Amino acid sequence: MTKALYTGSFDPLTNGHMNIIERAARLYDELTVGIIENPHKLALFTLEEREEMMRETLKDFDNVKVDHFSGLLANYVNENKFDVVVRGLRATMDFEYEIQMAQMNARLFDSSVETVFLMTDPKYSFISSSVVKEVHQLGGCIDGLVPDSILDYIKRSAK
Ligand code: COA
Repeated sequence: MTKALYTGSFDPLTNGHMNIIERAARLYDELTVGIIENPHKLALFTLEEREEMMRETLKDFDNVKVDHFSGLLANYVNENKFDVVVRGLRATMDFEYEIQMAQMNARLFDSSVETVFLMTDPKYSFISSSVVKEVHQLGGCIDGLVPDSILDYIKRSAK
């Protein structure tokens, strides 16, 4: 059985992330979406809110689990015996950051763990959580950029 991890801050989960989750869930026997508190980013949603939104959105995916963690990604990966870490690549600008992270992680992962990159569907390549947050906070429309369940949650909590 191949266990994969897709990780990020997901503040909030976007349709770009969803596209990667759907594809990774088809490729691997079990996919865990691991939500992380990134100390370098000011979050709009608490970790608990992000986890709740994620669970609601992914409830119909039989082989997808939701979890959260803190600290070093490699420790979480090794402790939970993941085989693969999935990353999405949107543009060449992502590549520089991703290769550095993948190579550093390769030193820290148990030897059998691989980082695998999925190319983001071009229709989502301009999306990031920050741009979605900014547009929403300034009153712009974010329909179609995040899953409907996330849109409902945001409207309900009026953030
Ligand atoms: N579609 C849409 N948006 C996408 C995307 C996709 N396919 N892929 C990435 N993004 C966006 C994210 O929403 C995020 O947007 P934001 O910057 O506006 O929040 C941005 O691209 C960066 O995503 P990501 O690289 O996943 O950043 P992150 O902060 O969400 O997560 C970790 C980064 C978790 C992978 C990294 O910080 C980590 O590993 N931390 C643990 C500590 C550690 O081990 N450090 C050593 C690393 S070598």
